[in-house]
Amino acid sequence: MFNTSGCKIETNKENNGNIIGKKIIRFDTIDSTNKYAKSIASEDAADGTVIIAAHQSKGRGRLGREWVSADNNGLYLSIIVKPDLPVEKLQIITLMTSVAVVEAIEFVTGLKAGIKWPNDILFGDKKVCGILVEMVSEDAGVNSVIIGIGVNVELKSPGFPEELKNRATSILAYVNEIGIELQIGIKEQLLEAVLIKMGNYYSTLLSGGIAGIIDKWREYSITLGKDVVIKSTNSEYFGLAVDILEDGRLVVLMRDGTRMNIQSGEVSVRGLMGYV
Ligand code: BTN
Repeated sequence: MFNTSGCKIETNKENNGNIIGKKIIRFDTIDSTNKYAKSIASEDAADGTVIIAAHQSKGRGRLGREWVSADNNGLYLSIIVKPDLPVEKLQIITLMTSVAVVEAIEFVTGLKAGIKWPNDILFGDKKVCGILVEMVSEDAGVNSVIIGIGVNVELKSPGFPEELKNRATSILAYVNEIGIELQIGIKEQLLEAVLIKMGNYYSTLLSGGIAGIIDKWREYSITLGKDVVIKSTNSEYFGLAVDILEDGRLVVLMRDGTRMNIQSGEVSVRGLMGYV
């Protein structure tokens, strides 16, 4: 069951040819837009349906963490897509989303953010946006992909819980820090830009343009060329991030000269988010 309030549905049949956002479901409050998206994905939700909430009471992050989703401070949305792609190619959706969000943020603020593998978006050395991509599988294979995007827009750094203060920022905290001014009300503008960019890249993806998306990811990456530490349950491995593969794996050159292709898990990048 869902703990929700204030549901509004917007439909825009044409949407300038953009499949993403033809239908937008808005909530004042929900526990998690990803959780809700998952619950309607296997029913009749159309490709490109968007779910947005002003506040999430139980926002979900990667690796089972919580995503702090304070009231009206951020952009919290999930997009349901139903691409006809084999499972091994679905990781590209994660990369595509980070590229689209970086470009949307730049469009609205004029500022360049960077991507920490696989899909954290940072201003300086702090995270401003997280992306959580989840698959919904049916008997016949993966049938929908839920793309969850959380952007910290207005949260001031004193508003972050203690453990996040040195690792997280928001668009407004960052622009204040570097001394520029933004007009108020950028959240709706950012939403529009994210949906347009996502629509463009989704079409590119479906028409076979994976290589171009990977090139953009490399261009915005703040991981490649950096020392990284890969954490597994019992050990840590140190290496140098050298490339990304088309299936999204990070290629790391280890100290013993071997190469490791990292699929998932926790990778810290030297100089970013508290790793010195
Ligand atoms: C991360 O840990 O970096 C991923 C965070 C993803 C948060 C977003 S907010 C909208 C969507 N709904 C959720 O519950 N999580 C994602």
